[in-house]
Amino acid sequence: MTSCFQTRVLTVDPSAPDPQIIAEAAAVIRARGLVAFPTETVYGLGANALDERAVARIFEAKGRPATDPIIAHIADLRQLDTLAHDVPSVAYALARRFWPGPLTLVVLRRSVVPANLSAGRATVAVRMPGHPVALALIAAAGVPIAAPSANRFSRPSPTTAAHVLDDLAGRIDLVLDGGPAPIGVESSVVDLTADPPVLLRPGGVTVAALLELLPGLTFAPRYLTEDDGAAPAPGMLVRHYAPDAMVIVVAGRREAALVRMRNEALIAAEAGKRVGVLAFDEDVPELVDLPVQLAPLGPATEPGRVAQRLFAALREIEQSGVDLILVRDPGQEGLSLAIRDRLVRAAEGRVIIAEPS
Ligand code: TXA
Ligand code: MG
Repeated sequence: MTSCFQTRVLTVDPSAPDPQIIAEAAAVIRARGLVAFPTETVYGLGANALDERAVARIFEAKGRPATDPIIAHIADLRQLDTLAHDVPSVAYALARRFWPGPLTLVVLRRSVVPANLSAGRATVAVRMPGHPVALALIAAAGVPIAAPSANRFSRPSPTTAAHVLDDLAGRIDLVLDGGPAPIGVESSVVDLTADPPVLLRPGGVTVAALLELLPGLTFAPRYLTEDDGAAPAPGMLVRHYAPDAMVIVVAGRREAALVRMRNEALIAAEAGKRVGVLAFDEDVPELVDLPVQLAPLGPATEPGRVAQRLFAALREIEQSGVDLILVRDPGQEGLSLAIRDRLVRAAEGRVIIAEPS
């Protein structure tokens, strides 16, 4: 599909959005339009979640396969029961603890929810986002808002309005620019229809926090390639976040990993490849003499800041036209698990473990 219309951009105050701008955006949603808006995780591409044709437009604009279901965003806890039936009591406990916030719950879908939203599944994913602009938009629209991340399929998620426009200008009606997304990685997705519940995607709520209310929670990260055939759960394809360049995650102790990254960079540069490194701030002095493009990720000791930078850094380094991107394994502690998940997907599963020399 080629771009066929102008995408409008309206700037909003992220903490106190102008009700008139929100009303305008809500009118676009009700008229079956597409509105990109900030959430606390990443920018979402919103449409009326109860309107099958509006939802279909999301798939078309993103180039997203119809087999990958979309999250319905709500602004009021009562909307959960209008979308889902037989909601387990733990869902309300999770909602009280984590909503509004970066947690998505997969529950049983009511028939008012169009089947295409859920890619034909009997379930629906629901989340109440913790961002004033998102909450105001949903409330003003008066309907739940279907919203995947507002990127083209298999591009890094957008954390600014500029990222949204890079991918979707001319394909959507409106972008609400509320500045950078505060968290920077997507919500944690928990399937409550499985017994025990399954973490389908690590995200803004840590596993440790989830385990307090879901002691039986299981997480088996599987990074599938398209050759593996049908994915057991949607959204598990490693290509999901892949930039154009080849990405390699280098794991192991810091010193060994840095030695390995230097070697890989020098070998690739020798072979005429352009190399980029996503570097933790404290690693920069060890890498700065290399013939590589460096993109700082923030301090390794502050995963919150790394999460904020992650997708922008991936986009920047990709735009610099490199053939190979090296990044050190951030570990799996707290928010780092979500960061690692996105990097391993961007790397299409390529993780090398550096041994001490
Ligand atoms: O933080 C977020 O979740 C952002 C913001 C915009 O809210 N949204 C987001 O949406 O990341 P998306 O579509 O990029 O990712 C949603 C994930 C996908 O992995 C999808 O497969 C999964 O949630 N999902 C959605 N509905 C599901 C369902 N019914 N069952 C299982 N997984 C589902
Ligand atoms: Mg996405």
